[in-house]
Amino acid sequence: MTMTEPEEKLPFHLRGNYAPVQVEETAFDLDVIGELPPELCGTYLRNGANPASGRSPHWFAGDGMIHGIRLGDGRAQWYRNRFVQTRSLTEPGVRMIGADGSVDRTIGVNNTHVIRHADRILALVESSFPCELSPELETLGVYDYDGRLDSAMTAHPKECPVTGELHFFGYHWAPPYLTYHRVDASGALVQTEVIDVPGPTMIHDFSITETQVIFMDLPVVFDIERAMTGGMPFRWDDDYGARLGVMPRGVPGVQPTWYDIEPCYVFHPMNSFDDDGAVVLDAARYPALWRDDPREFDNDSVLHRWRIDLASGAVTETRLDDRQMEFPRVAESLVGLRNRFGYGVATFGDTNAIVKYDLETDASSVHDFGNGRIPGEAVFVPSEGSVAEDDGWLLLFVYDKAADSSSFVVLSAADPTAAPIAEVPLPQRVPFGFHGSWLAD
Ligand SMILES: [Fe+2]
Repeated sequence: MTMTEPEEKLPFHLRGNYAPVQVEETAFDLDVIGELPPELCGTYLRNGANPASGRSPHWFAGDGMIHGIRLGDGRAQWYRNRFVQTRSLTEPGVRMIGADGSVDRTIGVNNTHVIRHADRILALVESSFPCELSPELETLGVYDYDGRLDSAMTAHPKECPVTGELHFFGYHWAPPYLTYHRVDASGALVQTEVIDVPGPTMIHDFSITETQVIFMDLPVVFDIERAMTGGMPFRWDDDYGARLGVMPRGVPGVQPTWYDIEPCYVFHPMNSFDDDGAVVLDAARYPALWRDDPREFDNDSVLHRWRIDLASGAVTETRLDDRQMEFPRVAESLVGLRNRFGYGVATFGDTNAIVKYDLETDASSVHDFGNGRIPGEAVFVPSEGSVAEDDGWLLLFVYDKAADSSSFVVLSAADPTAAPIAEVPLPQRVPFGFHGSWLAD
């Protein structure tokens, strides 16, 4: 952006706290308001889109930037933010898509999520291969599972807490449209399956249970005309239909069984689990997406449950809440297993809050950060030796609009309505971003 351009003329993703920051800061021994639990030893990392040029055609298209805070001994030991040094950033002019339509998966913006699996820290974006990072957020390079990865990799792989396996997929606008991969606990890619779907759709995320993988084939389809204009190449299609695909884990060569559902879109499941011959999938469900303009978000996603009886094929759908909610998370130890609690960023009226859902009692509790204080995704971290599912903390970044500044905040997950346990003011604004992880020592 040029300094003379009025901010109100910019698209939403370049304004206010969506606007990128350009400085890579490093700060040590930050001041703490309240008390950081001494047993929180590790690093909280969060990825987001942060266009280095100040410009990007869509919120999802900016260069990746990781914001990280390292905790230990009750201290906020450091804060760092670093660009993910992707080839698209370090080699100006490189193109992911060649003139002949070929695709180079080593080029991407890697701006969506950051995870650790088998001792590798990976910055992810759904178009491309992962980028490996050091614990201090230096980019080590593209990672392709020793050359075995032959598709893009979703930014939302699922690590099974029982087996340690990482399950993921890649999608593409040309056949094969959808490819599933399984990496074992040691980090070796051990299974790849091409999944049959009718056409190219935007598949942002998926989910697992202890025995199944669940794909979402939903009617946001690839649009070549929008692709030619350089924008987000997807649009809603009333004719595509919508279906969930349930595929047994660890059984090579078996296609999913598909179950039709009412058309909708889901970026993010909260969790899924096996339930007495059925699978249950909870997710932030949009009634439609990008019907007119793929730059618009109507913010009308609510928590929704599908239950699929695998024997009869019966599918039931239940709206679980009325509040707009996104960025749902559960305890990592319960990914694919029955969870009672989930945490999301909810918007109602002028309020932006963290909501804790109790799916057993249908109750919920809210942490409203107050006037103009806007939370991002909250990551649950269990306390040492915890027994109760919600015995632990929620870690997140919060933006204060009036001060135009950001903090790292620790809430009690058992009682998120209580005042924050600790707050760490950060040396610079953390733009609204996407997803993150806690990397325990
Ligand atoms: Fe996402």
